[in-house]
Amino acid sequence: MESLLRQVTKSYPSLKNSSLNALRSVSNSVASQSRPLAKAISAKHVAPFSTTARAYQSTPTNPHSASVISSNDTKDMFQAPQSVAPVVEKPSGAFDYESFYVDQLEKKHKDKSYRYFNNINRIAKEYPKAHTADFDARVTVWCSNDYLGMSRSPVVMENMKSTIDMYGAGAGGTRNIAGNAALHLSLETELADLHRKDSALVFSSCYVANDATLSTLGTKLPGCVIFSDSLNHASMIEGIRHSKAQKKIFRHNDMEHLEQLLQSVDPDCPKIIAFESVYSMSGTIGKIEEICDLADKYGAITFLDEVHAVGMYGPRGAGVAEHLDWERNASSNERQIGSIMDRIDIFTGTLGKAYGVVGGYIAGSANFVDMIRSYAPGFIFTTSIPPTVAGGAKTAVQYLKESGEERRMQQLNTRLLKSRLAQLDIPVVPNPSHIVPVLVGDAELCKKASDQLLTDYDIYVQCINYPTVPVGEERLRITPTPGHTEVMTDKLVTALTEIWEKNGLKYVKDWAATGGRAGVGCLDSKKIEPIWNDAQLGLTGIEQPVASTETSNIAL
Ligand SMILES: Cc1ncc(COP(=O)(O)O)c(C=O)c1O
Repeated sequence: MESLLRQVTKSYPSLKNSSLNALRSVSNSVASQSRPLAKAISAKHVAPFSTTARAYQSTPTNPHSASVISSNDTKDMFQAPQSVAPVVEKPSGAFDYESFYVDQLEKKHKDKSYRYFNNINRIAKEYPKAHTADFDARVTVWCSNDYLGMSRSPVVMENMKSTIDMYGAGAGGTRNIAGNAALHLSLETELADLHRKDSALVFSSCYVANDATLSTLGTKLPGCVIFSDSLNHASMIEGIRHSKAQKKIFRHNDMEHLEQLLQSVDPDCPKIIAFESVYSMSGTIGKIEEICDLADKYGAITFLDEVHAVGMYGPRGAGVAEHLDWERNASSNERQIGSIMDRIDIFTGTLGKAYGVVGGYIAGSANFVDMIRSYAPGFIFTTSIPPTVAGGAKTAVQYLKESGEERRMQQLNTRLLKSRLAQLDIPVVPNPSHIVPVLVGDAELCKKASDQLLTDYDIYVQCINYPTVPVGEERLRITPTPGHTEVMTDKLVTALTEIWEKNGLKYVKDWAATGGRAGVGCLDSKKIEPIWNDAQLGLTGIEQPVASTETSNIAL
């Protein structure tokens, strides 16, 4: 032991007088490269105690899933073994932090909201396949938000490779210090042009963009009231909460309720209506035009999150607001005064889903963007995205402005899957978008179905449980891509059919018999037309949607 420690401190002189805790804290970063250090630590019985390490590992019997961990296992995982804890006298009555953490986790297990992460490594050259913890195993990923496969697009990857050679790995600072490069600026110009606004501003993610923008606006606008759709994403909810502005929540897509709430506040106070275009867990679409009308009537500004729509809708991929005025926007590259896109005051979007990279942004008037740039801590006090990310994202945005084939194929594959599941009475939450939420309606069964897809069929679809969706509305959220072939669709449909049968899961007719759930089997539900119509998909005169053949012909 002594000699080991001598060896370690020779390699790491700064650790000479270090405590066990110090050794432990460096262990995670260097232990993998330093055998002596790792051995010394383990000889001292200080476990380099990575909770994630075990949570992400596969069990021997299940090469794919990290998730087959019982609640007892997890408890054990989070409790440092008694024998290894350094004996430190604590003042009597001192707060027991570890017990607190364990209690919090226990609550998550009890309400079934504990999250299990699977080890899924999407392989660029085999998209949409991934390997699991077992490098040689292959699963087909059916739940990625890399909706169009742009994360493995040769044009994006080539750009990122050459940018990293030129500018290195990191940005070098905040935008204010040394992290404001030509690529950041040109990405913002590209995004402003996408939404036909004066300016855009890039953040490290759209979570940060939403949080920073709403909290700054809500704080700065005097007496501001924020109206928020009840299904809004956590990033908007947090932004509104951080602003401490008065908040009024309207029922999802309920315009009468929104109007009542707008009428209930002082006509002169500043108001923001915050909503989404595509709601990612239900696939429903926000009532953009109606909300613009109400905003005009009551002197509010509109804040539209197009995170799940950018790259996916509209002739140039600007989102649903652009899609709704298809002809007008397709025929000109100029700002279309009075169009729906023009009427939205603030757009937010992500570079991490259909654009395949990472980052988020806002777009709007020059003064609005400059104000957020000048005041939002979430923009100012953080390292900017690396130039390689800015370059890759810009390439993806530019590419998808020009090419509509990826979004068209994605929509065709979505239609195919929805129609196959409808034929089998497997319940899909009705919606007009690219999301295929398959209703299970029970947390344990939903997880079981997801596990069975992975272990028995090599298909990865994460289950979506509370709190992401309400209790009783648990679902498998499936996202077809242009890379999913007809053969893959067949396999998925067969797997779901068998899983539904094996586990006695409810069909549409069963939901209908109990009055319906989450829009499935509801008697009053109207037929929903997909937002991409037949003409836009080039389907006029063709009866059935077709999936791509075994080899995807998309030039990604
Ligand atoms: C509606 C919505 N807004 C914002 C975000 C955050 O985007 P990002 O992943 O870029 O942080 C998400 C993430 O899934 C989202 O669903």
